[in-house]
Amino acid sequence: MTARFPNVRLRRLRDNAGIRRMVQETRLSVDDFIYPLFVTHGRDVRSEIPPMPGIDQLSLDQLIQEVGEASDLGIKSVLLFGIPAAKDPEGTEAYSPGGIIQEAIRVIKQALPDMLVITDVCLCEFTDHGHCGIIQDGRIDNDSTLELLAKIAVCQAEAGADIVAPSAMMDGQVRAIRTALDDAGYVDKPIMAYSAKYASGFYGPFRVAADSAPQFGDRTGYQMDPPDIRQAMREIELDIEEGADIVMVKPALAYLDVISAARERFDHPLAAYNVSGEYSMVKAAAENEWIDGRRVTMEILTAIKRAGADMLITYHAKEVARWMAERE
Ligand code: PBG
Repeated sequence: MTARFPNVRLRRLRDNAGIRRMVQETRLSVDDFIYPLFVTHGRDVRSEIPPMPGIDQLSLDQLIQEVGEASDLGIKSVLLFGIPAAKDPEGTEAYSPGGIIQEAIRVIKQALPDMLVITDVCLCEFTDHGHCGIIQDGRIDNDSTLELLAKIAVCQAEAGADIVAPSAMMDGQVRAIRTALDDAGYVDKPIMAYSAKYASGFYGPFRVAADSAPQFGDRTGYQMDPPDIRQAMREIELDIEEGADIVMVKPALAYLDVISAARERFDHPLAAYNVSGEYSMVKAAAENEWIDGRRVTMEILTAIKRAGADMLITYHAKEVARWMAERE
């Protein structure tokens, strides 16, 4: 007998919530989430980021409260971005022991030692020109930038960061950082590499949040070109060769094919970054009651995981953790 209708009726597996949940192939867990945070100087600062409702720039005291709430909801890791007191051509505050990120790492590790603190290794939030590297003759110079990225990573490790995440898209950045960490004695510090990071319009709201928009030109000379997927595989392969422990595809939603291809091809843990613009679109449409925000959020995060991501970096982390707790 051939397995087909009327013997086969796939609707049997969809008949009620119990059976649907039993056969469910992809399950989100709060363990998957990495919660990004924006840290700023000052006290009692919680300033709204207009395109990202629910996400604020936080001073250290507010940061501790926010991370505490995330921890109570079961979130085990955060990713830090900093807004420096002053910006300069070399992004000095990024690698200063008293820099905003270094302070943030110390206060989080002191209050919540088990919280995994991941730090973005990049210059764009710290440079006055807003680019991810050093400018030489009007270009973003790759090789001189490597030295600074390595300095940032070591400085973050010294402050207590658990994982460093280079996102500048400079060639050789993972090797430079691995070597510097090893030389400084941090042989066990993992690197989460933003390997396939595309030059994307979806970062718009982040640049408001982190005040990191490039002051001239754009990032197309170093971040990946959206039409390319084979090149994304080369980026990931090179990062693995250079010592990446975890690799990433970013953004997530418009790049599910890249996530899926990376999952097929590599055995490394794979992170996907559900970026600011993806968050803003959902929030704006939900605000207008054009979509059901909760339903769409769950659908999007499930899709990113179904495509093959192990870890989801998402601004939705807290609200989803809350919904999941309600559902238990
Ligand atoms: C830093 C960095 C960016 C994002 C993460 N790290 C901005 C950029 O590359 O312009 C974007 C994250 C988001 O949009 O949520 N280089």
